[in-house]
Amino acid sequence: MPEPLQVDRGLEHVVVGSSGITLVAGETGGLVYRGFSIDALIGKASYEGVVHLLLQGDPPSPSELAGLRADLARRRAIAPALAHLVPALPPKVPPLDGLRTLLSAAGNGRATYPPTLDQGYDLIAQAPTLLAQLVRHQAGQAPVPPRPELGHAANFLYMLRGTPPEERQARALEDYFILLADHGMNASTFALRTVLSTQADLLSGVVAALAALKGPLHGGAPAKVSDMLDAVGDPAAAEAWVRAALGRRERLMGFGHRAYKTEDPRAVLLRQIAERVADPDRLALALAVERAALAALRAAKPGQRLFTNVEFYGAVVLEGCGLPRSLFTPAFALARTVGWTAHALEQAADNRLIRPDIHYTGAPAGREWPAGVA
Ligand SMILES: CC(C)(COP(=O)(O)OP(=O)(O)OC[C@H]1O[C@@H](n2cnc3c(N)ncnc32)[C@H](O)[C@@H]1OP(=O)(O)O)[C@@H](O)C(=O)NCCC(=O)NCCS
Repeated sequence: MPEPLQVDRGLEHVVVGSSGITLVAGETGGLVYRGFSIDALIGKASYEGVVHLLLQGDPPSPSELAGLRADLARRRAIAPALAHLVPALPPKVPPLDGLRTLLSAAGNGRATYPPTLDQGYDLIAQAPTLLAQLVRHQAGQAPVPPRPELGHAANFLYMLRGTPPEERQARALEDYFILLADHGMNASTFALRTVLSTQADLLSGVVAALAALKGPLHGGAPAKVSDMLDAVGDPAAAEAWVRAALGRRERLMGFGHRAYKTEDPRAVLLRQIAERVADPDRLALALAVERAALAALRAAKPGQRLFTNVEFYGAVVLEGCGLPRSLFTPAFALARTVGWTAHALEQAADNRLIRPDIHYTGAPAGREWPAGVA
């Protein structure tokens, strides 16, 4: 029996397996999908192309891409039984929670182990439809059926609004989806892989992943970034605002990362995308808050290497795409459906139950239950 291994809190510095999907180079600030740096994808690849890359290992040929686009478009419609569930949800359920509930039921008895590519394509294609129907229902609007000739991101915006989106917004959202498509062993992917390791199905893993994504230390930060920008209000107020927040020992949303000890490479690209899609005044405010936050973090936490993360300009880009804050984390989830599918398939291909141990620090054994108490 090997000696038990004690590891760092939060599993920092712990490597729990191998993956051929995504390289997160935390020290140098790199992110690579199946050998393609994200810089080599933005401006060239479509989200559907990246779906093929992440799930099949290589970029599609032109005919494979056309086939995948058509296949995903065909899968967008949701079953009537699932559509009937949308109005049955409590009226104020947050969209992320609603999506989690709807995906729980989406398998309709066909969500079996091991996961399949087919199940993954259904998930990727149908999650946007479910979310759009839920949001429209909550606004008292009828659902908008998907349009097969629109790409994945453009169709999502179309199903939300009922009118085709501006090209600029559709492109920005597509690039956002590409940049958030996968990210190694983050908390939601770890949750999904743990669930899959019990031989549970893909949708069960995705439900666990969505639960993990919700918190602000993972995917729940971007709406709080927008709140922070509102609270600062004016670029001239940025310095005083961030210093006061750090003085109250608050965390600045959109900064710091477990893996990146330099700037998050997604933040670099999202800043450029924000320049194309964001309202100029909002962008100027974001740039001022970023500058002030980086300086204040350097002064307040000199030992820590805290930089801008994906959520900071992610929020600015999603605002520019016209999404409300309640849809920021759900939009992250839509992007990540492909990464979660890739990890589910990889986990199942070489599975062993994930089951670490925990060191017991409770009362010593031998206590007696009090007499007269059931
Ligand atoms: C992302 C995050 C959870 C990573 O956390 P982590 O690797 O576990 O780092 P820790 O929570 O151990 O923080 C290390 C130190 O840096 C500080 N720190 C980290 N991020 C900070 C932030 N955004 N604002 C202020 N201080 C921060 C912590 O207070 C801690 O300081 P201390 O040692 O003096 O107590 C963390 O940086 C964070 O909370 N960021 C804000 C939320 C956010 O943007 N989430 C989206 C992530 S993509």
